Amino acid sequence: MSQQMIDPFGRTVSYLRVSVTDRCDFRCVYCMAEDMTFLPKREVLSLEELDRLCSAFIVKGVRKLRLTGGEPLVRKNIMSLIRSLSRHIDSGDLEELTITTNGSQLARYASELYDCGVRRINVSIDTLDPARFRAITRWGDLAKVMDGIRAATEAGLSVKINMVALKGVNEHEIVQMLEWCHGNGYDLTLIETMPLGEIEEDRTDQYLPLSLVRANLAERLTLEDIPYKTGGPARYVRIAETGGRLGFITPMTHNFCESCNRVRVTCTGMLYMCLGQDDSADLRAALRASESDELLYNAIDEAIGRKPKGHDFIIDRRTRQPAVSRHMSVTGG
Ligand code: GTP
Ligand code: 5AD
Ligand code: SF4
Repeated sequence: MSQQMIDPFGRTVSYLRVSVTDRCDFRCVYCMAEDMTFLPKREVLSLEELDRLCSAFIVKGVRKLRLTGGEPLVRKNIMSLIRSLSRHIDSGDLEELTITTNGSQLARYASELYDCGVRRINVSIDTLDPARFRAITRWGDLAKVMDGIRAATEAGLSVKINMVALKGVNEHEIVQMLEWCHGNGYDLTLIETMPLGEIEEDRTDQYLPLSLVRANLAERLTLEDIPYKTGGPARYVRIAETGGRLGFITPMTHNFCESCNRVRVTCTGMLYMCLGQDDSADLRAALRASESDELLYNAIDEAIGRKPKGHDFIIDRRTRQPAVSRHMSVTGG
């Protein structure tokens, strides 16, 4: 019988999100400041350390592993890590190995990802308008991302598009995005913007409750709740008119913490038990202190034992600063 990680609230942790780099070739306005200082190399876990860490979590009971960033595909030699991790898919110990990507490097890597057992990927696109895409990502090239998505589909990967819904920025594009996604066979997930890390922009003004979006969509389209589950926090509906799936990720309006099954590790080996809390455990110290994995297992157990009940996404009304100070790119969403 394999091990299980069970937290103080009885939730089983079976989903690990690992940020393999803090770097990204874009600077999405809700994620990073334009002028970011990235970590020096020695701070970042090596590919071998990342492999050891992920493998230890799989021994502990992780069944779904998602690599994030920053942008995971800008990490040098990332495919050697993914190829190595694919052994856990082959052995049946891991049910899903996947990535969340901005799509900029997909054209290059799509078929290799498929070869490594990846079957489903999430790609972040907030707009189909090239100029607006450039503005949101600060310089991203939408055409290149589109080429990447096409390559992914041709390689056999299922694609889900993530769209952060932003008031006054892309809210009027949601129906168009839905039609484009479903017309091409992609799922679409809408996400409420979460207040993390100071980023120069005033996010409180851009926050768009998805309860409102859903009500507006329901006036034009037929939304049927469906039990479809991906392991992440989205709740899905089927759109009768298109036949496609639409997910809602609503950390702000409809908290989903009670069914949380996941933890995250940053590229420096800090384990965060919740995206919306600052408490963490230093797994890099455990990794580097000994070649045996005992310290690592103990550090993981101890951390899971203090996984908090839920997030703390609030913005201080007086200072207008988010309660959680780190950037989204540190924990990869
Ligand atoms: P699926 O496997 O397709 O379900 O993916 P996912 O939703 O788990 O992963 P993805 O990387 O696509 O994340 C989409 C959004 O969900 C991101 O904005 C994440 O920050 C957010 N998200 C995922 N897990 C959590 C969580 O535990 N809490 C909060 N607040 N947001 C989360
Ligand atoms: N709020 C909500 N989602 C965010 N993402 C990045 N920053 C934020 C934020 N502040 C999304 C990205 C990507 C996913 C991993 O997280 O668009 O799709
Ligand atoms: Fe990069 Fe993703 Fe953050 Fe955009 S949201 S800056 S693509 S890590």
